[in-house]
Amino acid sequence: MEILGIDIGGTGIKGAVVNVDTGELVSERHRIPTPKGANPEAVSNTIKELIDHFQWNGKVGCGFPAIVSGGKARSASNIDKSWIGVQVDDLFQEKTGLDFSIANDADAAGMAEIIFGEGKDTKGVVLIITIGTGVGSGLFIDGKLVPNTELGLVPYKDYKRFESFVSDSARKREELSFSKWGKRFDKFLQFIEQTFSPDLIILGGGTSKKMEKFQDRITVETKVVAAKFQNNAGIVGAALLAK
Ligand code: BGC
Repeated sequence: MEILGIDIGGTGIKGAVVNVDTGELVSERHRIPTPKGANPEAVSNTIKELIDHFQWNGKVGCGFPAIVSGGKARSASNIDKSWIGVQVDDLFQEKTGLDFSIANDADAAGMAEIIFGEGKDTKGVVLIITIGTGVGSGLFIDGKLVPNTELGLVPYKDYKRFESFVSDSARKREELSFSKWGKRFDKFLQFIEQTFSPDLIILGGGTSKKMEKFQDRITVETKVVAAKFQNNAGIVGAALLAK
C-alpha cells in the first residue's frame, strides 16, 4: 500500500510517496520552502502544490510541528500562533479534496524508526529527539507511542525552554561550533536520561546527519544513535501513522 507522507517543518515542507509495508520511499522526495509567516492559508496552499506535484489522489499522512490531537493543532511554538485550534485535517482536506491524517512531526519520525529503523528491535522505553528549527520528541514504550511529549519545551535556564538553547536554529543563530553546541545538547540528554531512564535515544532531524561532529561531547550512559531514515523519518512515519 502506498501513502503520500508529508513533513511540515520550519524551513521546508517535504513529501514523498511511501510504501507503508516496507517503509521505503517509492518516489523522489520533493521539498518546497515553508512560506513566510507560515499561517494556515499559506501552508495549505503549499500542501496543495505538493499534492499537484505528485498528482496524488490517495491517502495523505502529515507530520505537523506542534501538539496535535484529534487532527487539531493545540500549540504553536515555532509556527504562526493562528494555528492554535485549527482542525488541520479538515483544512487540508477542503483545499485538496483528499483524506489527511495529522500527527506531531517528532511522533511521526519516531514511528518510522520504531517500525523500520533504529528502534525496531528495542523493547522498553525509546525516545526520539528531532533537532531542527525546533526540538521535538517522541516517546515509545514497547513500541507504543505516548503522543505529544514536547521535551523541547521543558524550561531550562532563566525559564527559557531547552529548545531555545539546543535547536539547530540556536546553533546557527549563536554561531556555535558543533563541539560547543554538542556540550549543550549533552545537558539536554542528561535531563532526558534522569527523567526517563530510556533504553535507547534516537536523534532525528537534519542534525542527525552530522552526528560524528558532536558525538564525542555526549556523556550519557544511554545508547544514542542517529535515525536510520535521517531527515526522511518524518515523511515515512507520517505515512505509517495514516495507514
Ligand atoms: C514543537 C514540537 C515539534 C518540534 C519540532 C517544537 O517547537 O513544539 O511540537 O515537534 O518543534 O518541529
